[in-house]
Amino acid sequence: MTEPLDGQDINHQEDRMGKLDGRVVFITGGARGQGEQEARLFVAEGARVVITDVLDEQGEALAKELGPEVARYLHLDVSREEEWTAAVTAAKDAFGSVDGLVNNAGILRFNALVDTPLDEFMRVVQVNQVGCFLGIKTVAPEIGAAGGGTIVNTASYTALTGMSAVGTYAATKHAILGLTRVAAMELAHLGIRVNAVCPGAIDTAMSNPAQLDPTADHAETSAALDDLYRKLVPLGRVGKPEEVAALALFLSSQDSSYITGQPFVIDGGWLAGVSLF
Ligand SMILES: NC(=O)c1ccc[n+]([C@@H]2O[C@H](COP(=O)([O-])OP(=O)(O)OC[C@H]3O[C@@H](n4cnc5c(N)ncnc54)[C@H](O)[C@@H]3O)[C@@H](O)[C@H]2O)c1
Repeated sequence: MTEPLDGQDINHQEDRMGKLDGRVVFITGGARGQGEQEARLFVAEGARVVITDVLDEQGEALAKELGPEVARYLHLDVSREEEWTAAVTAAKDAFGSVDGLVNNAGILRFNALVDTPLDEFMRVVQVNQVGCFLGIKTVAPEIGAAGGGTIVNTASYTALTGMSAVGTYAATKHAILGLTRVAAMELAHLGIRVNAVCPGAIDTAMSNPAQLDPTADHAETSAALDDLYRKLVPLGRVGKPEEVAALALFLSSQDSSYITGQPFVIDGGWLAGVSLF
């Protein structure tokens, strides 16, 4: 922290060195949940962000709140290649270049494998796995042209272990780690580092759909989730999207300058082992 000089407060946001000063980061699924917190934190750390999603009203509102100098919203269904091409062109028009990507968009469906309709399986693959692939394919050349940067892929706890009833989701999240490792190898020569976050249970609409119900008591539903995870997770609570954003910041900043191709588990210790008592 800098000491004030002559009674002046020089700790203004504009005087502070941010971990992402000068960066332009493209975030998918950024209208709510973890993507929203990543957008907020990255702007607080000096980045300009391109928030993309299929939830246009929420995405527009977030970008407006953050301000047009530092945030833009663009519609992007990550499963559609032509929308990626258009969004990356629009992002460059807005901010000149792109040197960071957070592949965050994802969907979850519950079904035993033998009960999963093929259409459902394919939709989860299209959003989670194809979306991540198209992000790397479309944005990496721009990051390379900008002189290098970072890609953070959002996998999951279920990228590293099984979980019944979410087989389709787990398969796509395992695939994201494969994409992460190969992209890290293929893109290193362009100065691009590629890593993955593997969250456990995080208190967003995905794990806690009551968040989408305006009549629900959100404190109560979060407490109920905590109760569930108190038994499962050594740290005894559900995670916060802000905590995943902090990990994405680490992986997008110079603090992780010698790290690429790795999965980073953020799960309150869930994967550490099984507790008998
Ligand atoms: N919440 C958890 O417990 C948890 C755990 C592990 C991993 N994850 C992963 O974290 C990421 C963020 O999820 P979240 O927890 O913030 O949940 P969320 O449902 O709040 O956020 C997901 C976002 O992705 C967007 N999205 C969905 N389909 C899309 C598409 N076709 N194109 C573009 N955007 C689309 C949604 O509109 C939403 O804004 C996801 O990849 C999810 O799989 C979540």
